[in-house]
Amino acid sequence: MPIRINPSILAADFVNFESELQRVANADLMHIDIMDNHFVPNLTFGLAMVERLQQVTPKPLDIHLMIDDPDRWAPGYAEAGAFSVTFHAEAARDAVSLARRLRDIGARAGIALKPGTPVEPFLDLLSEFDQVLVMTVEPGFGGQSFMESTMPKLGLLRSAVAKSGLDVWLQVDGGISDKTIGIAAEAGADTFVAGSSVFAAENPAAQIDLLRELARSHAHPHGENA
Ligand code: DX5
Ligand code: ZN
Repeated sequence: MPIRINPSILAADFVNFESELQRVANADLMHIDIMDNHFVPNLTFGLAMVERLQQVTPKPLDIHLMIDDPDRWAPGYAEAGAFSVTFHAEAARDAVSLARRLRDIGARAGIALKPGTPVEPFLDLLSEFDQVLVMTVEPGFGGQSFMESTMPKLGLLRSAVAKSGLDVWLQVDGGISDKTIGIAAEAGADTFVAGSSVFAAENPAAQIDLLRELARSHAHPHGENA
């Protein structure tokens, strides 16, 4: 099954994003963490930064919105040309309507679940989304430890995706490294966000290749249906 490695620029040098993106140009998508100091206790950047990144990025943008009121703000990121826009289930008023609006604008629509948010209510709604993001840390900060307790959600999602025949990407985000990526791949993930493990590496591009190889060799057996 296709494996995607998406470096998170949260761990990059904030005054050199253009060259930082070039250092990881062998990635599949560039993961951009938008935080508003309300939904999470941290603040990054917003739409103006994404519009500028869109002009210089060598790979499509994978936007992760950790913000309140995504129903109001998420469509702007799709309009800016983002390839994928993922909002949090806990913050959305009407997740299905919002996902439909994002798709109408031309973006892939993703829904993210914090570690404590159950996945069951979404298993029958998979046709409405292009990606489900299972957070493997509490959202808000890079550099935290991978929570293996979230893996059963991936198993449920992988079976539901295989049964449905839909092409829904299953993303994990938080604490993904060469030590943990195999666990998430075995559980059913196919799309991996990695911040500190990529940008702290001496050679970030080589680290991406290593992560991709490890994920491939641990890929879930039902993945070929996804
Ligand atoms: C955390 C962010 C992640 C973060 C991951 O809330 O959503 O994308 O950058 O960083 P690492 O890989 O360092 O855990
Ligand atoms: Zn993220």
